[in-house]
Amino acid sequence: MGQKEGMKALKGKTVILGITGGIAAYKGAELCRLLIQEGATVQVVMTQAAQQFITPLTFSTITGQETLTETFASDSQPLKHIELANKADLFLVAPATANIIAKFAMGLADDLLSTTALVINCPALVAPAMNVNMYAKTVVQENLSILKRRGWKIIEPEEGFLACGTSGKGRLANLESIVAACRQALLPSDFEGQKVLVTAGGTREPLDPVRYIGNYSSGKMGYALAQAAKERGAEVTLISTSELPPPPEIDIVRVQTAAEMLAAIQERFSECDIVIKAAAVADFRPGNMAEQKIKKGDHKELNLSLEPTPDILANLSKVKEKQLLIGFAAETQDLLQNAKKKLDEKNLDLIVANDVNRKDAGFGSETNVVTLLYPDGHKEQVPKMPKLEVAHRILDAIRTLPGFKERN
Ligand code: PMT
Repeated sequence: MGQKEGMKALKGKTVILGITGGIAAYKGAELCRLLIQEGATVQVVMTQAAQQFITPLTFSTITGQETLTETFASDSQPLKHIELANKADLFLVAPATANIIAKFAMGLADDLLSTTALVINCPALVAPAMNVNMYAKTVVQENLSILKRRGWKIIEPEEGFLACGTSGKGRLANLESIVAACRQALLPSDFEGQKVLVTAGGTREPLDPVRYIGNYSSGKMGYALAQAAKERGAEVTLISTSELPPPPEIDIVRVQTAAEMLAAIQERFSECDIVIKAAAVADFRPGNMAEQKIKKGDHKELNLSLEPTPDILANLSKVKEKQLLIGFAAETQDLLQNAKKKLDEKNLDLIVANDVNRKDAGFGSETNVVTLLYPDGHKEQVPKMPKLEVAHRILDAIRTLPGFKERN
């Protein structure tokens, strides 16, 4: 796949979405909407049982495609399952009942969905949803193992409150995780085997127990990088000051200060292959943190004495062996000159120059506009796009670095 297409994994793709008979079938409507938002064409196939929970009309209205329910709907289309399977780029069943999982595992074909499953030649994913005891049954787990062995991806259900009134593992995975799994299934696994550390958010340097010196970084750029690397097969650890929930299946280490961030990275550095420092790290911190809240009445004016924080990237570049170090430069003036200076001074493999004067780029925004600067002087302008797409462009660039080692 052309790397520049990588970030829009679902764009222009046809997803066959199987809806089977469980209460979570109603969530399929929102799932359709999310997949369509990603640029996919969604063709829904419903089992008879699914239609007890939600109507085909709901899905036809959302997808703009006739929802299919019958193997032999008309004499003119006796080979519907073949036609469907041939046009599928991705086969997803969400929610998947124990019954459909058993049929897939045994190769039974007694309705349109199970018949199509036997013909597909594309990535296949199932997101089980059922009662906790049913999910735990050996036969269900064995059937899932069979599918896994055949290369199907199982999107594990979540723990939580279930429609049957009990609580436990069996609730349909959250829809964002399902969409992320779909993207991942279509993207190249070109970061498989890579251990990637990403930092995100602005550090907070305490002044007293209730105040800190911070900045406007939301963590979105770092989170997007973590998600993109995960989608492309990397093992990702996100070291974050941000309170955003972590992207699916990503280890998160929460820190506050530059010193804590440095310690968290140092602990993991020898094991990792790539460090991407999207975090906005304070350059200075209060020399002494007041033990108690600083009182207004005690001071006519307040002068803060600040000391430098450890420069994390500069520290890492002194001890790095195989690791690739990727920095960001958030600048309000002389963007490229300042970024180039940081690239050289911190001995980085790549720097992402980020003009933070713009409203649609940098701190807090959903989109970003960056320029990639390489040590050999080569530059690459990345136009405005959502941060997840920018993240994929940065990964594309990392793949071209001389120190990048394929690990799959
Ligand atoms: O989080 P968002 O709201 O999505 O915003 C994203 C962002 C604007 C924060 C991000 O895209 C960005 O530009 N991050 C870098 C911000 C920054 O601190 O840049 P800097 O020029 O001050 O630092 C240069 C590099 O050195 C950075 O990679 C930084 O992580 C690193 N650094 C800085 C200081 C320090 N003590 N140690 C460091 O390692």
